[in-house]
Amino acid sequence: MSNLRIAVIGCGKQAPKHISGFKKLPQLEIVLADIEPDRAEELAAKEGVKRVERIEDIFADPSIRAVDICTPTPAHYDLALCAIAAGKDFFCEKPLCESAAQARAIAERLRARDTIGMVGFIYRFASVFEYAHNLFKDTAVSGESPDLGRVRGALFRLGGRGSHQVWKHRRENGGGAISEMLVHMLDLALWYFGPVEQVFNVTQELLRPRRYFQDQLVEVDAEDYIVINYMTKSNVMVTCQADLITPAFSQYAEVQGENGTFMGSIQPYMPSFLYLDKPTAGHPGGRTNLEIPAGNLFENQMAEFVHLVRTRQKPWRCTVEESVRLLELMEEIRGVIR
Ligand SMILES: NC(=O)c1ccc[n+]([C@@H]2O[C@H](COP(=O)([O-])OP(=O)(O)OC[C@H]3O[C@@H](n4cnc5c(N)ncnc54)[C@H](O)[C@@H]3O)[C@@H](O)[C@H]2O)c1
Repeated sequence: MSNLRIAVIGCGKQAPKHISGFKKLPQLEIVLADIEPDRAEELAAKEGVKRVERIEDIFADPSIRAVDICTPTPAHYDLALCAIAAGKDFFCEKPLCESAAQARAIAERLRARDTIGMVGFIYRFASVFEYAHNLFKDTAVSGESPDLGRVRGALFRLGGRGSHQVWKHRRENGGGAISEMLVHMLDLALWYFGPVEQVFNVTQELLRPRRYFQDQLVEVDAEDYIVINYMTKSNVMVTCQADLITPAFSQYAEVQGENGTFMGSIQPYMPSFLYLDKPTAGHPGGRTNLEIPAGNLFENQMAEFVHLVRTRQKPWRCTVEESVRLLELMEEIRGVIR
């Protein structure tokens, strides 16, 4: 196996999680860069990896095969385009970019090149949600699940306390509960239940307009609470709720079908189970607890990206094309709010 060089751009909170995934993989060399070179220097020293002074050095270096974009969202678009132009594969933290038009432009350029682009939807790498994807593998088209029968409704929730970074709470910097949190649950909902027929209810609030960042009380303006309802083309009623105000992280998905319920969470102390009124070919009736080890989501995610880079295969999940549809849905949601 030849040595693979990957550059991580943006050395904040997410970068070390990605680096810990990369470090589990053989024959891989990591190089860091940040718009603030001190940050790259500090993280490089901590992780025992190399760093470069300027972002341009990454794109100009032919020995770097791929880049991992871990910057705030407004920088994703330019960096993804630079990666494609330089013939480098890219992994980009979610959301891919700030608008559906930007996502379409990235997708178009990617199609014209033999370049791999993948987006960081980490929940797809949780075993319980991969298991659920199998339960709902035909539901996006037919609305039917072999076990749950006709799927009627699904509720996805993701609540967190918000960030120590002020940009995640400011609209002009790409922050807010829609981009930071809801996006993960919308991605799961689209993965399971397919395209949207109609968005018909959106409620957003700014419940904490003043927050402390490094002991300073700061005014913020991005929504920190959001609930949406939409109907899919396959006739599943989806509700997603997300926020930046839940003091103790909370996440789950609950799906109701005519023959029972699926409940899943990445949190070990939340129940994950399948409850079926009648047994099916695959499962007994009653409650089956899903004791699926969560694994390390970041290790799984980075391993999949590196595998694709090494084998020159296009991603089968977390694709740029999927992000086009996701960003279109996010724009529709924002349109309902206006
Ligand atoms: N998948 C997840 O669960 C998850 C969780 C948190 C954040 N995120 C996403 O990850 C991304 C990064 O978030 P974070 O929490 O690490 O942010 P952060 O603010 O902690 O770190 C961002 C870093 O990028 C650097 N930077 C800013 N602009 C840059 C540019 N143009 N070029 C190079 N470096 C630049 C900053 O100096 C900083 O060091 C965001 O898109 C965020 O939405 C994903």
